[in-house]
Amino acid sequence: MLFDHPEFDNHSGVHFLSDPSVGLRAIIALHRVRPGVPAVGGIRFRPYPNDDAALTDALRLSAAMTLKVTLAGLPVGGGKTVVIGDPQTQKTPELLRALGREIHALGGRYLGGPDVGTSPRDMDIISEVTGRVGGTTASMGPLGSAPPTAEGVFNAVRALAQFLNGTDDLNTVHVAIQGVGAVGANLASRLAAEGAQLTIADIDAEAARAVTRSLGAAVVGTDEILTIPADILAPCALGSVLSESTIPHLRVRGICGAANNQLATAADAERLRDRGIAFVPDYVASAGGVIAGIGAEGVIPRADAQALIDGIFDRASQIVTMAEREGVPSTAIARRMALDLR
Ligand code: NAI
Repeated sequence: MLFDHPEFDNHSGVHFLSDPSVGLRAIIALHRVRPGVPAVGGIRFRPYPNDDAALTDALRLSAAMTLKVTLAGLPVGGGKTVVIGDPQTQKTPELLRALGREIHALGGRYLGGPDVGTSPRDMDIISEVTGRVGGTTASMGPLGSAPPTAEGVFNAVRALAQFLNGTDDLNTVHVAIQGVGAVGANLASRLAAEGAQLTIADIDAEAARAVTRSLGAAVVGTDEILTIPADILAPCALGSVLSESTIPHLRVRGICGAANNQLATAADAERLRDRGIAFVPDYVASAGGVIAGIGAEGVIPRADAQALIDGIFDRASQIVTMAEREGVPSTAIARRMALDLR
């Protein structure tokens, strides 16, 4: 039953969509909606082992979006769409338009954008039938939200370096990046420009080679990136990488990356605290994309959006500093701040 679901967390609304004529099966989870204030979050398109896994992902991701937008200082709520299917074979223009019509029918309660499995070009197609989608090529350019997301993560990495070393000079900092896709590769460029030492891993060998060729980063296997000695680990691939099985083997002093929901369970925040590893919550570090998207949609002025992306440095800094002072997980501090800001 939905109301008893462990991740339900009093969602404002959960919509189950089905249109067999185009193969659409999707869930739109609206965590926090208030009159005139949409829930904002990306459209994820991926296969799931079963419907409950899709529902769990939608609920967790939309709740994390509420934390993300609140801590970023945005005047919106959190939401998420999960489309169940293989984007390589099932993502057709007809399906995207059918999804767009469903989003439109929500009457402004939700504003979507690209996420894993969808692109700015897909948003162009959805925008043919609804204005309730951002991150189109016209509004954000062909690279979409990845550059501003990477800029925010870079600001948070600098804040973490300052917390760990007393200076945000990255010349002596070794960063291990898991996943050098759109965000990870852009982050790697920014870090390399500031003199950071980089080690990277990606299941896509060509993506890893491209970063090595352009930046001279060292490459390790995907099974090694979570265990090599480094100062900071930047997870920029998928979620749930910080778990009961991986945390004991980490050899870093801090973690800060873009991947959503890096902690497999809430208890993993305590495991990191117990190991003395400073953790910038992903919903703080990776807010740059949604901030820029909201700016591009005119919900806030673009100049304000840039100031909020710059402000990720201070927010990350406050969170890891207070977590250490109080001896609690950084996620507890972040949640408390979000409640105060609401
Ligand atoms: P992407 O799909 O462009 O890049 C992900 C990269 O990770 C790919 O190169 C992939 O081959 C690699 N990868 C997958 N599994 C891996 C593994 N086990 N080990 C090493 N590499 C692996 O995605 P993008 O846009 O760069 O996003 C990265 C993460 O950041 C995702 O979790 C996404 O949800 C999150 N995020 C992205 C935002 C954006 O604006 N693009 C905004 C906020 C969060």
